[in-house]
Amino acid sequence: MKTQIAIVGAGPAGLLLGHLLRAEGIDAVIVERASADYVLGRIRAGVLERTTTRLLDRLGLGARMHAEGLPHDGFHLTDGERLIRIDIAALTGRQVVVYGQTELTRDLMEAAPGRGLHIIYEAADVALFDVDSDAPYLTYSKGGRSHRIDAAFICGCDGFHGPSRKAMPAAVAASFEKLYPFGWLGILSDVPPCNHELIYANHERGFALASMRSATRSRYYVQVPLNEKLDNWPDDRIWDELAIRLGPETAAQMTRGPALEKSIAPLRSFVFEPMRHGRLMLAGDSAHIVPPTGAKGLNLAASDVHYLSEALIRHFRHGDSDAIAGYSKKALARIWKSERFSWQLTRLMHRFPDNDAFDRRMQLADLDYIASSVAAQTVIAENYVGLPL
Ligand code: APR
Ligand code: PHB
Repeated sequence: MKTQIAIVGAGPAGLLLGHLLRAEGIDAVIVERASADYVLGRIRAGVLERTTTRLLDRLGLGARMHAEGLPHDGFHLTDGERLIRIDIAALTGRQVVVYGQTELTRDLMEAAPGRGLHIIYEAADVALFDVDSDAPYLTYSKGGRSHRIDAAFICGCDGFHGPSRKAMPAAVAASFEKLYPFGWLGILSDVPPCNHELIYANHERGFALASMRSATRSRYYVQVPLNEKLDNWPDDRIWDELAIRLGPETAAQMTRGPALEKSIAPLRSFVFEPMRHGRLMLAGDSAHIVPPTGAKGLNLAASDVHYLSEALIRHFRHGDSDAIAGYSKKALARIWKSERFSWQLTRLMHRFPDNDAFDRRMQLADLDYIASSVAAQTVIAENYVGLPL
């Protein structure tokens, strides 16, 4: 098969990129290792910045997000005693929209056939070749046969564990990484949220987050030690711990219910540079990871593919190859700022095993300062709502 752009991975990055290219009449094919059902089974953060909602609107794919998503004017930080509201609407004039990543992925997947975006699911053994030549290609196997796709460019949107980043020669690349000594235990339950806005809590016992998927479905998290076992956390223990960490005021509003899903995810900050080599470009989690504090992962994938699609469109329309050469630098400038915000919010809100009493006092002083300073709240709000493209 021959196409203009071969995309590896049908997560949010690959799907959005495919749609942005198709909207300009550029041919794109996505090869995805998993099945469509598997991709839709993943539960991930869904706080959309305006840059992300605008992208969906531009594609004419924002209808369900506007109908079912929850626009939020603010969120809360708490030290377990008082709630500090960050009024993002008043401080920035913008909102975020809470809309599950699963729903967004479904909207993009369902619209693909009608827009000529070809997605090949269950493509095994994807391998990339000749990415630094003018004729890159990839191979995969499906149904017991092997297949080949020749393309003008290959876009690696295959997440942290995919093959695309590994196809970049080590000699031209550098990676930067920070691992955090804890994970997030998440619980999804069909109960109404305890607050109409998100609450990020820093309690002495560790971090907790009250989030939601809809008016009837809640998503909560508690910080747990790295290597903690899910078996140690029956539902009741999670609800008890949330009630303590979120504080009495919030606990009084919290409805408990059976878990629809429970999982533990590690936290990582990671950036890979550069994001282009020859005719291979990376976007989304294949090039960078943020800890979930601040919900930047999906929004960064969206800003990457915004820059990348612009560069590819300029290449195909105007023969302008400088745009492609400049993609990595442009995308990384925004990525590093989101990395910084996610790292700072993670440090502010979690209990680190080597924290001593002084470190704890520093966190509390930080929160107290934020509570009393509009300037400090504005810094948080403008990062949370999303920096300009
Ligand atoms: N071959 C083909 N596809 C692959 C391969 C492979 N070898 N390896 C991984 N993939 C697919 C995965 O199955 C997945 O569907 O690539 C996709 C990558 O999707 P995500 O991990 O969601 O990454 P991305 O699209 O960059 O989204 C970034 O969304 O999933 C969240 O945490 C993520 O918030 C972040 C944002
Ligand atoms: C979530 O709802 O899953 C969520 C929300 C905000 C975050 C992280 C996760 O910062």
